[in-house]
Amino acid sequence: METMVIKVLFVCLGNICRSPAAEAVFQHLLNERDLSHRIYVDSAGTSGCHKGDKADSRMREHAEKRGIKLTSISRQLSFPKDFDKFDYIIVMDNVNLEAVRTLDKEGEYSRKILKITDFANNRTEAEVPDPYYGGAKGFEQVLDIVTDGAIGLLEEIEKKL
Ligand code: 4NP
Repeated sequence: METMVIKVLFVCLGNICRSPAAEAVFQHLLNERDLSHRIYVDSAGTSGCHKGDKADSRMREHAEKRGIKLTSISRQLSFPKDFDKFDYIIVMDNVNLEAVRTLDKEGEYSRKILKITDFANNRTEAEVPDPYYGGAKGFEQVLDIVTDGAIGLLEEIEKKL
C-alpha cells in the first residue's frame, strides 16, 4: 500500500518573511524526526507582490543563526489548486486568515484553514506580527512564535500518521 503523505502549506502576505520561516522551521523538524517522507511542506503568499523573490535577507540571516536555512521562492496562493492539494493551510495572522477565507467563498475548505498560533504550546500571541517594516527583534519574534507553533502542529499531525 502506498504511504499517505500529509501536506502542509504555510501562508502569509508576501511569502518572503513569516511563511518561509515557518516552512523552513517545520522542514527542519521533519528532517530531525525523519518524517520528510510522510509530511510535505510548502509556503505561499496571499499577495503576489514578491513573486519569484528569495526570502527576505533579514529573515534568512536570523534563521541561519539558529541553523535554519530558508530556500523558498515567493509564490502566490492559488485557489482552488492549493486548497485541494494541501491538508493544512496554516496562516500567520488574522488579515491573511480573512484573505484565505475570502478565496474559499463557499467555506468548503474551512476545516483546513487554521492559524499557526492555534498550535502554540508556550507562546501566547494570537498571530505572528509582520516583521517587514521593523527591526531585528521582530524577526527573532517571528522565529520564536513559528517554532512554538510548528512543534505544536507537528504533534497534532503525528497523531494521524
Ligand atoms: P510576509 O512579510 O508577509 O511575512 O512575507 C511581508 C513582506 C512584504 C511586505 C509586507 C509583509 N510588503 O509590504 O511588501
